[in-house]
Amino acid sequence: MDLADLPAQGRVVDLGCGTGPALAAFAARFPQAHLTGFDKSQEALETARERLRAHPAAVELTSVDLREKLPLPDGSVDAVISSNLLECLPDPAQLLNEVWRVLRPGGRAVLSHSDFDALVISGAPVGLDRKVGHAFADDSPPWMDSSDGRIGRKLPGLVQASSLARTHVETLVTSSTELSGHAARRVGDIHGALRSTAMRGNGSVGLEEIDEWYSALQQAADAGLFFFAETAVVVAAHRI
Ligand SMILES: C[S@@+](CC[C@H](N)C(=O)[O-])C[C@H]1O[C@@H](n2cnc3c(N)ncnc32)[C@H](O)[C@@H]1O
Repeated sequence: MDLADLPAQGRVVDLGCGTGPALAAFAARFPQAHLTGFDKSQEALETARERLRAHPAAVELTSVDLREKLPLPDGSVDAVISSNLLECLPDPAQLLNEVWRVLRPGGRAVLSHSDFDALVISGAPVGLDRKVGHAFADDSPPWMDSSDGRIGRKLPGLVQASSLARTHVETLVTSSTELSGHAARRVGDIHGALRSTAMRGNGSVGLEEIDEWYSALQQAADAGLFFFAETAVVVAAHRI
C-alpha cells in the first residue's frame, strides 16, 4: 500500500483481485478510495463483494478476461495492483502495456508474484521433494489459460521491458516451522493440484508419490522438523 502512494480519494484497480484481500486492506486504510477489482471468476468476485460491502465509497467488481484490453479509459487510474495473476496469462507484457495506458502520468503500479519454482519445503526425502517441487512449478491446471511457475523471478525484467518506469524491487519471504496458516494452504494447494493433474493422466508424479510426499510433511511437522518458505517478488513502477 505504501508503494501504491494512493491519494485519499484516489482510484486503485486490482487486476486478478480474486476474493479481494488486497482491496479489503486498501478499504481499511483509505475509506474514501474508489476500489475496482477485475477477475474472471464470478465466484471469487461474489466473495469480494461481500467483503467490501461496507466500503462507503465506490466499489466496482467486474468479470473481465485480463487477456483482453482493460475496460478503462486512458490515464484514468491512480494505482494498479496485482498479485499472483501474471503467470496465468499467455502474454503478460500485453497486460503491462495496458497498465501503462490506464495509469495517469505519475500513477503507480505495484505488481507481485510468488516464484513457485523457488519454494523451500523441508520434510520429505530429497528425491521426492525435488520431483514434487518441479512438478508443481510446471503444473498447468485447467483454470489457468497459461502457467509459468518461474514468473516471480522474471517480473523485474518484464516490468523493465515495458513502458512503465521501474522504481523498486524487493522480495518478501513468508516462512513457517509449522504446517499451519499460509504454509498449510500452499502445501494443500500443491497436494490438490498435483492429484488432480495425475487423475487426468498428466504430470510427472503419480498419485502414490504425491500422497507419500504429503504424509512425509505431516510426519515431519508432528516431529517439529518441518520448514516452509515462499518468496514473492514485488516490483513497483510508475507512468512517466
Ligand atoms: C492465484 S489467484 C490470486 C488472487 C488475488 N490476487 C490474491 O492475491 O489473493 C489468481 C487470480 O487470477 C484470476 N485470473 C486468472 N486468469 C485470468 C484471466 N485471464 N482474466 C481474469 N482473471 C484471471 C483467477 O480467477 C484468480 O482469481
